[in-house]
Parts: sequence; structure tokens; C-alpha cells
Amino acid sequence: MNQSIRSVARNAGALSAVWSGGERTDLPYLWLRDNCGCSECRVVQTTEKRFHIFRVAGDLKPLQVGIERAGSEDEAISMVWPDGHRTRYRSTEIQGHLSQPRSELRYWDCRFQPRRFDYRQFLESDRKAAELIEEFLRTGVCLLVDAPTDPDSSEQLATRLGPIREVVFERIHNVVVDPKGYSIAHTDLAIAPHNDFTGYTWPPSVQVLHMLVNECEGGESCVVDGFGVLNELRNDHPDKFDVLCAVPVPFRLFSEEYESYAANPMVELDSDGDVRLLRFNTQQMQVIPLSEPRLVGFYAAYHELSRRINAAGAQATVRLEGGQLLLAAGHRVLHGRTALRSTGRRHLQDAYFEHDNVRNHLRLLRRTGRI
Ligand SMILES: [Fe+2]
Ligand SMILES: [Zn+2]
Repeated sequence: MNQSIRSVARNAGALSAVWSGGERTDLPYLWLRDNCGCSECRVVQTTEKRFHIFRVAGDLKPLQVGIERAGSEDEAISMVWPDGHRTRYRSTEIQGHLSQPRSELRYWDCRFQPRRFDYRQFLESDRKAAELIEEFLRTGVCLLVDAPTDPDSSEQLATRLGPIREVVFERIHNVVVDPKGYSIAHTDLAIAPHNDFTGYTWPPSVQVLHMLVNECEGGESCVVDGFGVLNELRNDHPDKFDVLCAVPVPFRLFSEEYESYAANPMVELDSDGDVRLLRFNTQQMQVIPLSEPRLVGFYAAYHELSRRINAAGAQATVRLEGGQLLLAAGHRVLHGRTALRSTGRRHLQDAYFEHDNVRNHLRLLRRTGRI
């Protein structure tokens, strides 16, 4: 919308602004006062807010309002509050606050192949990094190729992905066949699609699977779009979906030295009612107590979810070779692998990061004009 404000009128709790196209926007008085951008109301050096809402009356109303047109600037609405404080908003500012931009997700199934990006370019080129992050925010998964094969080199990704999210066990987790290993990943068994560290209330929200060497037969990786599967389930069986959002499920990964355990629903929604987190890890799921009154309904829903996640139509196959990294949105994308069929060398490292830091890196690149 590129319009000017034609008129303003004072109503009970809000100023009504009418745009040149005839649309109306209500601007609550406390909102107008709270977001005042003047140098008294802000810490000039940081833009942080200094004004506190309790300092004015709850039924605050401006004494005067008006529209100012000054020179080549767009017009502004100005108001004077009962204590004499003046606030001014340009109409373009109001337009910028009309709604929160939302990122568009693209859902996918077994026909999907993650987009490939060159590892060095991702680190060195802001434009390439932005391209990767945009794709990652849409689909939840990207493949980085021509990456180093030195152990722990995924540390380098911190310049783009933000600091490593540490959890118990190792800072960077080694996945090799190990008869003393603490998880199924240390055996040669197939691993069904899951996300990691479901035994945390806030599981890592970005996972990097870094293949250092893969000379093994079998061990093909697969990924599943958990949000896509859940949206279809929600459409077909809203009652089952609701149970998955409600019943706490315990998950646990442990060893002699470490413990991770937390009980939370498999599905969490954001404040718009959209899925923001799926916890699905069959091997680490613990017993739900019999005192849970929704147990029968939960199992019907869990059965349906498990069937859909494990259906061939949901799983996209990716064979990770040495020097390749799969970047996965940990709260959305599930990963798994087929059984290892030979004793050839295979060494995978898992490092975790946080989705907020990845998303905000793109914001930073845009804000600072680097892209
Ligand atoms: Fe895993
Ligand atoms: Zn002010």
C-alpha cells in the first residue's frame, strides 16, 4: 500500500486514520504513545525504549491531533498528550507497522532434492549466504558440497549460522559404529526419520550433518518435511492433530555420564496456530504413564503420524558423501538413514545451531546493506 493519510478522527480508545484509498486503520492511543520515537522516549544511541507505559493513564487520549505536511516529506500525524508531550508519525512509518512480514514455507515430499550450495561460497559470499538462508527458511533443508573433511571443521559455520548450540555428550557429536555408543546411531542399524535431542524442552533448532568420510555401502540418508506431514494430518484428522498437541510424551537419551529427559507434546503451535515444532524420535520415546486420560486417543493419533512419516512417499533420499553437509531445520525436518551394509569407513559429525541466529543473519545482511 502506498497511500497517504487523508484524515484522522478521535474515537473512544483509538485514533481512526483514513487512507487516500478509503481504507481505515485504528491506532490505539496507548500504542501511539508507547511507540513514540522521539529522543526523550528512546535511548538515542541504541533506539531502545526509555518510555514506560505505566507512566501514563490507562485511558490516555491526546488533547490535539492533526495532519502535518512539510516540504518534500510525506505527511505525518501529530498529537499532543495531556502532559504536553508531542508525538509524530510519518504515514510511511505507520504503513511499515501494519503487519508483521511472514516467511513463506514450501512443503515437499519424496520427490524433493535439497538445493546444493558450495561450502566456500556460503562462507565467503554474502549474496550466496543470503540465497542459502532464504532457501533454508522456505524448505528447511540445504546441502553444502565441497566442504572440508577435517574433524570439527563445522565450527567454521558459526560465522554464518551463529554460535554452536551445545547439548550434553559432545560439542560436536561423532557418529561412527561403536559397540560402546550411547545411541542407535552408533550401531549399523537403519534409523527411521526422527529429530535429535527430543529429550530437551527446547531441542536444537538447526542441525548440521557433516559427512567426513563415507566408504560404506548402505547408510543412505533421508529427510522428511515434518511440517508438511503434520499439515496433511491436521486436514484429514483434526481431532488426532489436537491430541498430538496436548499429550506430553517423555523422550530420553542417556549414557553413564549424561542424561537428557523431558516430557512435552509432540507438536507445538505458534501464536497464529501454525506448527512451530515437531518432536518425533521413536527410539528415544519413553513410556507414557497409564494415568494419562487421553492415552487411547493419543495412540490412534501417534499411529497415524508414524505411518505417514515412515511412508515412502514422504521420504526424500540423499546420499551424503565425504565433504558434504546437510543443513536441517531441527524443529521441522526429520532425518534418518538406511542400514550400514559393509564395514567401510563412515564418519559423520553432528553440530547444532539455532534457527533464530540463522534467520537473523539474513536480517543483518539486509540491514547493513551487504546484499
Ligand atoms: Fe539423528
Ligand atoms: Zn516521545
